[in-house]
Amino acid sequence: MFRKALIAANWKMFKTPVEAKAFVEVFLPLVAGHERDEIAIFPSPVLLPELVKATQGSRIAVGAQNIHFAEEGAFTGETSVLQVKDVGGSHTLVGHSERRQYFGETDEIVNKKLHTALRHGIVPVVCVGEMLAEREAGRTADVLKRQIAGAFAGITPEEAGTIVIAYEPVWAIGTGKTATPEIAVEAHKIVRAEVAKLLGAEIAANMRILYGGSVKQDNCTSLIQQEEIDGALVGGASLKPESFATIVKY
Ligand code: 13P
Repeated sequence: MFRKALIAANWKMFKTPVEAKAFVEVFLPLVAGHERDEIAIFPSPVLLPELVKATQGSRIAVGAQNIHFAEEGAFTGETSVLQVKDVGGSHTLVGHSERRQYFGETDEIVNKKLHTALRHGIVPVVCVGEMLAEREAGRTADVLKRQIAGAFAGITPEEAGTIVIAYEPVWAIGTGKTATPEIAVEAHKIVRAEVAKLLGAEIAANMRILYGGSVKQDNCTSLIQQEEIDGALVGGASLKPESFATIVKY
């Protein structure tokens, strides 16, 4: 089984267009000729056109951090999948824990957004992960199964091929507390088993599951080298071209 790794940057609500361009100017030479894995950057929507332009002709994919489930409409402050596609975005995060925590995204909304991304040929990176209290209460597996089953409702094996999952334990995001490779692998296995139950063993075996949560230069290798871990979704350490390039080349 070979799954090509995806190393992705989630810039969250950081950087201006000028800063995004400056990042790319330093980053591209650092990863030139490095073709082992896929690379993607997820900036704020306002940076998408600049980043697409700056990365043109490179292997770097650009995606949104969020899309609305409707194609268009009276949804003040939201970004549509058609807009992302039109400016050259190819991917989108779906259900990031910060969206779930601060913006009320439920499994049902995540599911609708996943359908929308797939309908328009945008590669979805579906984020799942338990909170600290859930882990401490021994509920990690239940939470992951619920999130996967909720996100994947009504998704057929035929359309699931491009889906990527990111396991991001909420207690590891922005805290400097990384899951150990053992903890991450255990969670990835739970996620993959749930996908197999829903969509069959072959789809599950081919689906990439990234790890996210305080991935840094000094811990990326031990995580991503695990057979169960198919790449990383990197927040803080993706903001500097040097540290993100080091992670890309883990
Ligand atoms: P940090 O790498 O800053 O912990 O963020 C992880 C994350 O949320 C990526 O989506």
